Amino acid sequence: MRMYDIIMKKRNGGELTEEEIRCFVEGYTKGEIPDYQVSALMMAIYFQKMTAAETLYLTKAMEYSGEVLDLSAIAGIKVDKHSTGGVGDKTSLALTPMAAACGIPVAKMSGRGLGHTGGTIDKLESFPGFSTALDSRQFIDNVNRIGIAIMGQTADLAPADKKLYALRDVTATVDNLSLIASSIMSKKLAAGADAIVLDVKTGSGAFMKREEDAFALAKEMVELGSNAGKHTIAVVSDMDQPLGFAVGNILEVIEAIETLKGNGPADFLELCLTLGTQMLIAGGKAESEEEAREKLVSTIENGSALAKLAQLVEAQGGDASYVYHTEKFPKASIVEPILSDREGTIRHIVCEEIGICSLMLGGGRETKDSVIDLTVGLVLQKKVGDYVKVGEPLAILHANDAGQAAAVRRRFLASYDIAQEVVEKAPFIKGVITKST
Ligand code: URA
Repeated sequence: MRMYDIIMKKRNGGELTEEEIRCFVEGYTKGEIPDYQVSALMMAIYFQKMTAAETLYLTKAMEYSGEVLDLSAIAGIKVDKHSTGGVGDKTSLALTPMAAACGIPVAKMSGRGLGHTGGTIDKLESFPGFSTALDSRQFIDNVNRIGIAIMGQTADLAPADKKLYALRDVTATVDNLSLIASSIMSKKLAAGADAIVLDVKTGSGAFMKREEDAFALAKEMVELGSNAGKHTIAVVSDMDQPLGFAVGNILEVIEAIETLKGNGPADFLELCLTLGTQMLIAGGKAESEEEAREKLVSTIENGSALAKLAQLVEAQGGDASYVYHTEKFPKASIVEPILSDREGTIRHIVCEEIGICSLMLGGGRETKDSVIDLTVGLVLQKKVGDYVKVGEPLAILHANDAGQAAAVRRRFLASYDIAQEVVEKAPFIKGVITKST
């Protein structure tokens, strides 16, 4: 089978067979097919799209391109959670201890941040000593012992996706629905959970800017998961402004901890409760949404979720005293407000711009090898629908470089659209997609 013929077939709008897809995925993973031919195929797929059958074949080929984790040594229904990525998205830090405190075995593989979106692994490494480099035996032992473990994605998990995603990232072929769906689901399926809860973001800070595209992606991923025999649910949630108030690694960790202490922002708490509800139902720990919510809320009220986070940090070599004393986290050297230059109601925030501001301060990665500054970022003081007067703070800036701080200040102000009329807030949770939806 020649790669040239596969590219030509797709370029002309043909449907690739399972064998053709497996052939290019295997050949590329082994280094037998060059980047330029796979780039051409990705671009052909971008324009011609893929059918549901082709997307399924691509997902399976990538899932089985490396190790598929066997979590059968962990008792109970393992429920994984995945976010398509956003600004200020610290959900896993709060949600996984809440779910674990309700008895869901959490065996989670997470990634690092790239571009304007952050990653759970970077945030967890804010705890001094915390390590996500567990081998599969330690990972399984920790889940059996304390009910929760979070490890970095191993090089051997869906290596085909790793190579393809890096290539798509530099060839402007990331934002194709089938390619995103197969990329995410190949990793989730290889990670071995019994059920998967997906948080699909939509809005100016998300991959899927338009709501209809986010719903289409959610449906496609639910279909792929269900086809693989996993109970899969997707929640579509708003990313048209940052989640919560904090954007930046340590700032987000502190906000997640505050949420577990009962002081969380309303939108962030709502997301944790909505996703957690689906996790508890899928994991057989609640029969109804009401029961699931009650159980999740009680993990905050009785301190068991906070204690579970401390256990997780300690079990992975971190200093758990930071969970109870967040003032111990290091701080940026420049902490100052960004004051509003206008009066009115916040109509819109260009969310991606806020992520880019955090990136410019050193809080994110421009390339996969960038070293990030965990202390920098922004804590919003005003969000959509809030009224602001001239001279009132829109955010608190945390920086370690005066030049970067000045550039971010200008960019940040430009990302706020302040109107004179009353602003209606859009619903935060847009919908829940299950197989039958
Ligand atoms: N996240 C992924 O893992 N893959 C994509 O293609 C896009 C977002």
